[in-house]
Amino acid sequence: MTRRAVVQGVGHYLPERLVPNCEFETTLDTSDEWIRARTGIERRHFVADGQGTSDLAVHAAEAALRDADLSPEDVDAIVLATSTSDLTFPSTATMVQDRLGMTRGFAFDVQAVCAGFIYALANANALIVSGQANRVIVIGAESFSRIMDWTDRSTCVLFGDGAGAVLLEGREENGNSDDRGILSTDLNSDGRFRDILYVDGGVATGTIGHLRMQGKEVFRHAVEKLATTARTAVSKIGLKESDIDWIVPHQANLRIIKATAQRLGHSMEDVIVTVQDHGNTSAASIPLALSVGVADGRIQKGDLIVTEAIGGGLAWGAVVLRW
Ligand code: UT7
Repeated sequence: MTRRAVVQGVGHYLPERLVPNCEFETTLDTSDEWIRARTGIERRHFVADGQGTSDLAVHAAEAALRDADLSPEDVDAIVLATSTSDLTFPSTATMVQDRLGMTRGFAFDVQAVCAGFIYALANANALIVSGQANRVIVIGAESFSRIMDWTDRSTCVLFGDGAGAVLLEGREENGNSDDRGILSTDLNSDGRFRDILYVDGGVATGTIGHLRMQGKEVFRHAVEKLATTARTAVSKIGLKESDIDWIVPHQANLRIIKATAQRLGHSMEDVIVTVQDHGNTSAASIPLALSVGVADGRIQKGDLIVTEAIGGGLAWGAVVLRW
């Protein structure tokens, strides 16, 4: 028998304020047509004044707990992926722990920017497989609208806010690729590329800073690295790309999503796409897409899913799991 981290619940939360592309036409030299054609994005949600990443995360965690029919006291740990934590410290995860009313266990943040949820899943999987925790809430939550330069049309139209969460539970499975749960993970980073996607503020500057991106360069890395990490993760468990039922990619750009699916030999019918409705929500984009895919009935128990992401660092990776 092999211990696996199996998804028992999923949920998400989007802040109320919905911003269509046309809203940017009034303040920037841009257009709905350009944004749709170059990115696939049609709208995104933004947090309200006073609303923080922890607020979004709490709603998503509560939704995942409801879906799993569990209470906060049943949970051993919270692993929260974000690059837009409410404060420098404490972690957003401990704020969520408090707001959920969880007085035992442990909680911490993972910072791998858009790859954050992949890194968080891999960490939660290791906690469960090693017996450190049995039930872990894994959250991706972001308020990227807080770090936009609203005069930079090449970045501020791309991002959105939101949160998604899964509840993972340790289960004894057979130890083969038919098992439910996380079957393999593949994590990578290369700090030589830190300058092509970063925020120009932090403790060193005493400012929050704004997101800066060389879009074309990031695009080039994404198309090359995402298919490779997905293939690596699938091959680690002796499966082939054709065995995948669903690709659940990081939602940055529809053109990247299509190119990756094509490289993996899949049509867009096998891909969960939410970028049109959410924009790029960084670490939140994958759990948001999982939640949408489950809610609309596409993702079913037993389906083999590969999920992949790349972001600032550069950091990238993939997780293969059976739902
Ligand atoms: O989540 C982390 C990972 N992030 C990503 O994966 C993002 C990767 N990059 C991208 O998605 C794309 O590179 C972008 C969407 C950011 C940009 O698309 P692109 O096709 O690479 O456009 P570009 O940067 O080459 O710009 C083409 C033109 C430029 O004008 P010129 O120099 O050709 O006259 C830009 O100034 O489009 C212009 N442009 C815009 N025009 C209208 C850039 N942004 C805009 C805009 N509206 N919002």
